[in-house]
This record gives sequence, structure tokens and C-alpha cells, in this order.
Amino acid sequence: MLKKSSLVLWGVVLFVAWNALILFFLWTRPQSLSDHGRLTEEVIRLAQDAESELEHQKDLLQQIYRYSDLWRRRKAGEAELHPPAAASVQPSTAAPLSRHSQISPDAVLPVLVIACDRSTVRRCLDKLLHYRPSPERFPIIVSQDCGHDETARVIASYGDAIMHIKQPNLSDIPVPTDHRKFQGYYKIARHYHWALSQVFRTFQHQAAIVVEDDLEVAPDFFEYFQAAFPLLLADPTLWCVSAWNDNGKEQMVDAAHPDLLYRTDFFPGLGWLLLSDLWNELEPKWPKAFWDDWMRQPEQRQGRSCIRPEVSRTMTFGRKGVSHGQFFDQHLKFIKLNDRFVPFTQMDLSYLKKNEYDRSFRDQVYAAPELRVEELQGNQRRELGTVRVQYTTRDSFKAFAKALGVMDDLKSGVPRAGYRGIVSFLYRSRRVYLAPPSDWIGYDPSWS
Ligand SMILES: *[C@@H]1O[C@H](CO)[C@@H](O)[C@H](O)[C@H]1NC(C)=O
Repeated sequence: MLKKSSLVLWGVVLFVAWNALILFFLWTRPQSLSDHGRLTEEVIRLAQDAESELEHQKDLLQQIYRYSDLWRRRKAGEAELHPPAAASVQPSTAAPLSRHSQISPDAVLPVLVIACDRSTVRRCLDKLLHYRPSPERFPIIVSQDCGHDETARVIASYGDAIMHIKQPNLSDIPVPTDHRKFQGYYKIARHYHWALSQVFRTFQHQAAIVVEDDLEVAPDFFEYFQAAFPLLLADPTLWCVSAWNDNGKEQMVDAAHPDLLYRTDFFPGLGWLLLSDLWNELEPKWPKAFWDDWMRQPEQRQGRSCIRPEVSRTMTFGRKGVSHGQFFDQHLKFIKLNDRFVPFTQMDLSYLKKNEYDRSFRDQVYAAPELRVEELQGNQRRELGTVRVQYTTRDSFKAFAKALGVMDDLKSGVPRAGYRGIVSFLYRSRRVYLAPPSDWIGYDPSWS
């Protein structure tokens, strides 16, 4: 066993080193060229080189994953089914898991608004202020990057109602290519890093709700976070509460049941609550760019989940952004914003704790009769009620997701809004679980 594990480890080390060398070589070359007109061409060519090299390396990586997966399965058996962090662990091992106990369930929950150069941040702030039940419990901190005057004036116009802080470092960030799009991602990661340190280090808050300047919040946005906060404190297998359903398009959610909540293994972002503990953990290794996909990697997620609603408690109204133009037009703008206040704080949400949820959710999903995608599309066998569509491979997941209108992309092997591989949504007004076989043992990070 030990021998196999060290073999795998060496494989990974060699792979990483090889990649680092190649990327270092490819990325440092253009910088040695002076500023000729041909620089761009050269950069594109090198990027293509790097891409095909990466493509080639991906096969190797997949092999390594397959081996390590095989080994992990033999060693851990049902690791994902019974993670060590489950709430039922014995007192002796529970100690490191009770790390949130020093945070009070009444702790202040500041809303951190990440702003840049969109003066439409007004829409975000107006709704936050309109629905906020208590200024003391939910102070609003707007962190502005980009030094945009008009946006700064809009934020300043709220006076004492909000706190306005400005990211001081507006310098360009040296990036591997001079691609503008790329630079934007670096600046966002730098801004998040700075803003979250302000909230957790400078202001010493114990938790925070992060939103971006193009998000509009629902009437029960605060109610939702207030109610889910104690869950986050109590269940160490949770690492966030999110307001967002990635499959939250109008016709795909049960608008009559806005009280429905789920666990998800996919980090949704877009209005999310985190604890200072998590920031302590992430800050030392915070990435230079693409922070959200970085969070979705197994090294960061560590098997933890988020709570997410059936009907989103945020919607995005901003088309303008680093990456969101096309994504917004095709997807984001169709997400339904909940419009009915649900008194979450009056409800018992303990069913969302891992042990209870895993049992009941699994039972529910695998008790549902299986149906083929074509039968669903043909609206057949309506008498069955809730049904399950089973996928077994990456390709079948993608094909079925596409056919049923579900987001078909995977990050580190996890489908959007998925929990234990299961995606729950409405299709032609009936509940569908797109699910792997019931003996599923874990995500395959090579599924992308
Ligand atoms: C500003 O950001 C750049 C790029 O991240 C960094 O290299 C530089 O040290 C920063 N400057 C200050 C004053 O923090």
C-alpha cells in the first residue's frame, strides 16, 4: 500500500515539476523579446504551444488520477460516504471540528460589496439597504477597486449608511501575457484578497456575506443568511452558504416552494457567507487569479459543501464584466430572483446537517423511479411524479444535462448545483434528479 501511495505521489511531483518547467519556459520567452510589433503574434503562437502541450499533459494527469483514485478507493472504501468530518464522530476526534464554537450565532454579519467601475452599484446598494432588517447586525462595507470616480461618487452619496473602503494598489499586475482579459482576473483576485483581509483582519469580523456590485438581492436575502448562519457554525462539513442556484432559471425551479434548500458540493459564489476560520485557511495560499475556480479544486474544498436555495436570492443585472458578457446573455440573465419572503429564521433547518441530509436526500433520490431522457422529453409516464435520470460517465452527464437544459460544465469533476453527483431541478414541471448510480463513491476531478 505504502509503496503504491509513494509511487503515485512521485508521479504527481514529476508531473507538476515538468509542467512548471514547460510553462516557465513558454511564459518567460515573450518577456525576453523587446516591444516589437510581432510580439502579439508571438504571444498567440506561444499560447497555442502551451495549450497543445497542456492538452498532451492532461492525458498524463488523467492517468495519475486514475491510479490515485484506484488506490484511494481500495484504501478508503467509502471515504466520501463517511467523511471523517461527519457530525456523529466521537468526542475524542470531534475536538478539531468544533473550531467555530467561539463564534456566536449572534455575530455581526457584514455585507462586503465588491465594487470596481460600475456605477450601477447603486441598484445593488439600494436593494440591500431597502431589505436590511438591522444596520447593526448587517453593516454594509463597500470595497472599491479600480479608482473609478463616478462609481466612487455614487458610493459616497450614501454617506454614513455604508462604509466605503478603497483598495489602494491600482498598479497593473505583471501577468504571463499582456492579454487584457487575463489582467482583469488578476485584479479581481487581488481585490478579493485585500477586501477580505480588511473585513477579517482589520475589522476583526467573524463572518461576512460577499456580494458583487452587479447583484440584486431578494426580499428575504438577510433572513436566509441569518437563519443559515448557525448551520454553518455547527456543521464543519459546510464551508459556505450561497444565495445562488446555478440551475435557477424560471422554468427549472419550483417557485411555489421558495423555502426549499439544498446542500451542494459546487461552490456557487454570487452572494455567499463565509466564516473567518475559512479566511484564515485560504488567505496564505490565495491565488493570483481565477479565485472561484481555485476554490472549487479538491485541495481547497476538502469535501466541504455549501447550502444553496431552490430559488436564487440574488440575480445579476450586469452584463459588463471581465468574463460575464456571453455567460450573462446565455445564462445568468435567466436566473429567477425569489420574490416571496420566507421566514427561514422561524423554521427548523437542521435537516440540512450532513448526517441527516445525506440519509434523507439519498433515500429520496434513489427511491425515485428511473426514466430515460427521451421519455422525459416526450413527457411520458407523468404518473411517476418525481423521477431519476441516471448517468455513469462524463459524456453521459454532459449529454443528459444539455438535453434537459441543466448546466453541463464541471469544475474539478463537480457539476453545478450538484450534491454527491446529483443535480435536482424541474423539467416540464416535474422534479428530476440527474444522478450517478447509487454506489457512487466520489468525484473524478478529471471530468471537466
Ligand atoms: C501592488 O500589487 C502588485 C501586483 O500584485 C505588487 O507586486 C505590489 O507589490 C503591490 N504594491 C503594494 C504597495 O502593495
